[in-house]
Amino acid sequence: MVQLTLPKNSKIKAGKVWPKPEGATHVREFRIYRWDPEDGRNPRLDTFFVDLDDCGPMVLDALLWIKNKIDPTLALRRSCREGICGSCAMNIDGMNTLACTKGMDEISGPIKVYPLPHMNVVKDLVPDLTHFYAQHKSIEPWLHTSSPTPETEWLQSHDDRQKLDGLYECILCACCSTSCPSYWWNGDRYLGPAILLQAYRWLIDSRDEATGERLDNLEDPFRLYRCHTIMNCTQTCPKGLNPAKAIAEIKKMLVERQI
Ligand code: SF4
Ligand code: SF4
Ligand code: FES
Repeated sequence: MVQLTLPKNSKIKAGKVWPKPEGATHVREFRIYRWDPEDGRNPRLDTFFVDLDDCGPMVLDALLWIKNKIDPTLALRRSCREGICGSCAMNIDGMNTLACTKGMDEISGPIKVYPLPHMNVVKDLVPDLTHFYAQHKSIEPWLHTSSPTPETEWLQSHDDRQKLDGLYECILCACCSTSCPSYWWNGDRYLGPAILLQAYRWLIDSRDEATGERLDNLEDPFRLYRCHTIMNCTQTCPKGLNPAKAIAEIKKMLVERQI
């Protein structure tokens, strides 16, 4: 398991300890990263106690309970609450994952919640994903064709469609990229596992006719070859996907086209 812990000299200080909910007999302690660019203070860890008899079972349920009942200024992203939109990705108990699919009962002790690692923070648990999305755009994630457009849809055999399994399910949550040490240090130029998995998704699509150009775009010491097969990405993916394998397949395609 990939565990990400803060160094001992971290400047994150203990913050406010909010009182336990009155009359609650079944509570869970949360320590949540707080940072507001507008208040000029260092990041801190606030402590909250959640009344489990008044709250759903997932970490996201607890965060929303805290926001609704204790501190409305807590900032986080969420939309679907079903593990589909990818917006609630954060670092929970040392692992990057989705708050809406992570059960509180999977964690022992106080539940520590931080934003995704090594990203600029907009506020509290909200990372700045501008660069991540720009990298996604850079691989042109749509079908490229030069053949005449068919009157109906672009057809694909059952076997070719199956090649997209394990790729199309990616929800671009960025859990994998922000767990990758190579992406931490070279994220300005290295595309990272999420974007490379997406790149492979288009390379392997039988309907796409720009394979050569796509490979040209990736053949670069930084954009692709900063992956050193550390495998954090695959271990952390909350959808059970294997970005490291997709990256290895791209490298294989690049070797094979030279033979
Ligand atoms: S590969 Fe997994 S961890 Fe990475 S962005 Fe896609 S769903 Fe998220
Ligand atoms: S396998 Fe590659 S992309 Fe995945 S964590 Fe390791 S270096 Fe990063
Ligand atoms: S809220 Fe959509 S994945 Fe968690």
